[in-house]
Amino acid sequence: MKIFLDSANIEEIKEAHALGLIDGVTTNPSLIAKEIKRTGLSPKNIWREISSIISGPISAEVLGNKCGQIIHEAEELVKISTNIVVKIPIMEEGLKATNILSSSGIKTNLTLCFSPLQALLCAKVGATYISPFVGRFDDISQEGMSLVGDIKQIYFNYQFKTQILVASVRHPLHVLYSARIGADCITIPFKVIRQLLNHPLTDNGIKKFFEDIKNASTDTHILDNET
Ligand code: E4P
Repeated sequence: MKIFLDSANIEEIKEAHALGLIDGVTTNPSLIAKEIKRTGLSPKNIWREISSIISGPISAEVLGNKCGQIIHEAEELVKISTNIVVKIPIMEEGLKATNILSSSGIKTNLTLCFSPLQALLCAKVGATYISPFVGRFDDISQEGMSLVGDIKQIYFNYQFKTQILVASVRHPLHVLYSARIGADCITIPFKVIRQLLNHPLTDNGIKKFFEDIKNASTDTHILDNET
């Protein structure tokens, strides 16, 4: 499962990238707005900075709601860097634009997916990625992960090439269930990536190993100690 970072924060992206885990980045207008406030950079410069750090796919969202506007924005976005994926909200004009963009080889991420039938239509017009928003379902007391299972089944039935990119991730269980279902990719906030890594038994184990060796030897650089 490819792991993308769900963030537009350049410092956070650098930090996550240093872990060697990040295959790509997803941004959305709300995340870009936060980064504009933090840095004063323009959206284009934010995506430029991100693409200087990350060589995998970087999703950048269009704001237009007419097919012509979406195509124009997409053409501008892909000029920023070759790894930009154009993120398009699911709507009629978005599907038309996706159809045109996919036949000209521009990669797309169809966002705000809340139904398996939306995902079916997006695959039919050649979307590169589909983003089911699992957490926003959970927020309204509906089970988000079943959407991912349904999409996986439909895409398998018809051998669609569109990749499932699980989005709106709130906690580690979303990551576990996505991996069990076999989602192609997942986009995760940095806070949740840290939650995946940390375990109290690992922390206690590290502490105990260190204390035991410290009690046996005053030198904790054990490999340098030849006596
Ligand atoms: C993904 O592409 C979106 O940017 C993101 O996952 C939305 O998550 P949210 O529901 O936490 O805003």
